[in-house]
Amino acid sequence: MYFNGTELKKVFLKAKKERFGIIASNVVFDGTIRGLLQGYDNKKSDGLLQISSGACKYAAGDSKDLLVGAEFISSMVKVLAKQFKKSGVGLHIDHATPNYFEFIKDCVENGFVSSVMIDASKEEFEENVRITKEVVKLCKKHSVTVEGEIGYIKGTEDEIVSETELYTSPEEALEFVKQTGVDLFAASVGTNHGVTKGEKVVLRLDLIKEIDDLLIANNVETGIVLHGASGLTAEQQQTAVLNGVVKINKDTDYQLLTAQAVQAYWEKEKDAVVCPEGVNNEDYTPDKSRFDPRKWTIKAENAVQEQLESLVNITGSTGKSIV
Ligand code: G3H
Repeated sequence: MYFNGTELKKVFLKAKKERFGIIASNVVFDGTIRGLLQGYDNKKSDGLLQISSGACKYAAGDSKDLLVGAEFISSMVKVLAKQFKKSGVGLHIDHATPNYFEFIKDCVENGFVSSVMIDASKEEFEENVRITKEVVKLCKKHSVTVEGEIGYIKGTEDEIVSETELYTSPEEALEFVKQTGVDLFAASVGTNHGVTKGEKVVLRLDLIKEIDDLLIANNVETGIVLHGASGLTAEQQQTAVLNGVVKINKDTDYQLLTAQAVQAYWEKEKDAVVCPEGVNNEDYTPDKSRFDPRKWTIKAENAVQEQLESLVNITGSTGKSIV
């Protein structure tokens, strides 16, 4: 089923209380959405799908009209989600920088999403708080969940690029959460956006615990979000969850698996579209039964589903749906 913001809040509260992690998956294409929804439902795990500004522009086509793209993806998610009864998913705007305030507003007011991330982390602290508070005020009216961020997460995530890593300070995190009233809080603890190898990144998972303890001690317990989580080891993700993370963001993993699945198919089935060496072109007929896009895009869809099913086992959300 499709979750509104009120239901999503329950999902994250449960995750925080019982210490498991919800996998938040970036999407653009229908096949990815389908694979993920099937995966969440098979595992009776709730989930979150995420759209970035870049994804919305792509989905709209030449117009690059953000709202058209958001409505298109939102409709696909809502229609497909209806058929799944053992789990629920929300739709979230990922990393919306302050220049996308109007986009957030339109999406929220039109009911395209149930959750929003305002990423004003490049602003000075006071300005970040001011902008985030504005988004919280807007979203509260529509019961939409809000995620905020302080600190920089290194790497490239769609239109978000950061050369530097700035670890989140627990004291600033406390101030930020207290002043803004966000539902979810993204901390920068050493993960990178992009292709990362878990053992090679210097993770400060202890920082997550420090932030979590401080928030709890000050009666503002909040779900912590781990960005740039592709490529992390199972142990790293499980420790992050034990330390207070409730939302684990994944994008690059799915992109890579999609490319690998399609590449493997075409490596094997090349002669379905390319005349093999030694065969006369006049004697060659492309094989429609193998180049039909449904035959090879399903490979990517299956790979994404398989990955999701293994991820929810790792983060412990299997069987924990609130549905
Ligand atoms: O917000 C999205 C994520 O942080 C994605 O990170 O590309 O490393 O999976 P990733």
